[in-house]
Amino acid sequence: MADAIIWSVGGYAPPHIITNKRLSERMDTSDEWIQTRTGIRERRSAGDEETTATASIQSGKAALEASEFEAEDLDWVVVCTDTPEMWSPATACFVQDALGARQASAIDLTGGCAGFLQTLQIMSPLAQAGKRLLVIGTELLTHALNWNDRSTAVLFGDGSSAFLMGPSDAGHGGIRIGPGLSRSDGSQTDILGKPYGGTRYAITPELVREGRLHTIRMEGPKVFKHAVTMMSDIGRRVIQEAQLGLEQIDWVVPHQANQRIIDAVTHQVGIPAERVFSHVARFANTGSASIGLAMSDMLDQRLIKPGQRLLSVAFGAGFSWASQLFFVDQVPPAQFIHAGEPV
Ligand SMILES: CC(C)(COP(=O)(O)OP(=O)(O)OC[C@H]1O[C@@H](n2cnc3c(N)ncnc32)[C@H](O)[C@@H]1OP(=O)(O)O)[C@@H](O)C(=O)NCCC(=O)NCCS
Repeated sequence: MADAIIWSVGGYAPPHIITNKRLSERMDTSDEWIQTRTGIRERRSAGDEETTATASIQSGKAALEASEFEAEDLDWVVVCTDTPEMWSPATACFVQDALGARQASAIDLTGGCAGFLQTLQIMSPLAQAGKRLLVIGTELLTHALNWNDRSTAVLFGDGSSAFLMGPSDAGHGGIRIGPGLSRSDGSQTDILGKPYGGTRYAITPELVREGRLHTIRMEGPKVFKHAVTMMSDIGRRVIQEAQLGLEQIDWVVPHQANQRIIDAVTHQVGIPAERVFSHVARFANTGSASIGLAMSDMLDQRLIKPGQRLLSVAFGAGFSWASQLFFVDQVPPAQFIHAGEPV
């Protein structure tokens, strides 16, 4: 059977840069506190003029333009997001229309910060079976933040990334999707999420008066502990099941949540810091966009070379967590749109 291959990669970091200093003018925080606790220096914001669909279109177009394919060649457009365009229809339908992917089926998937790896694991068999897919991860998390809650508002940012995928027997090289695993523990749904605004807690004037907004809520220290334990465990398991040694992993591409979490996970797995990619200082936590955005940046910086093995680990709301191996048969073409200005 064919393997699933990433044929090209697109990344989009929205143009508004919000520095820690800018946040400290808006709330009771400081650059020093944020950098010490998280490693984050700045994050991107899409601003009011953009939506999850427009950001997805940017990264989707970037991946298509970098490739030999046209939108009409696509069988599937998939958007993984926790900040959708609207409840219904799927964000992916807006993207499919705007790109002109007239032969494609479009669907959204939601899985918190582990959602992008889960989506790749769900969609890879379709690529193996010969389908061409545009798999996009997008979050406009600055639209989902409570700007009065300093413990969450400083952590997140906006971004979008896209993988164009297909089968290995179609004559196009790229990054091969290797073994992966994902797990969930739905008994922890109250620790991290955006609980209000759904069917359980519909937004009512009473809820708004009580300050229960449709924004992200999190018990930070609990999330920290679980994130480190679960990502270390699943990362080690995937390496073991693939019968690889740690020295055979050239890069760890972790979910970019927080530098302290990244450091703790890679220390526990036993991979030296110089083989771990992090740009959390510049882009903060972009949820479902994070791992694709990191790969897009790595390709832009020419850090990914033929023959390398990459290990991704992610953790997020649910809780859900996942790990995925990638084998670089050929460096895929990529386009990373990241010019920005402080606001
Ligand atoms: C959020 C996080 C950075 C907080 O760091 P911490 O060392 O655990 O800090 P605490 O939560 O113990 O808070 C310590 C103090 O800092 C304060 N504080 C919280 N946010 C602050 C901010 N932005 N600026 C200044 N002070 C802040 C708290 O109010 C608390 O004050 P108190 O002691 O007077 O009550 C940390 O728990 C974390 O990284 N969690 C995981 C978050 C994450 O990555 N989530 C997404 C996963 S996908």
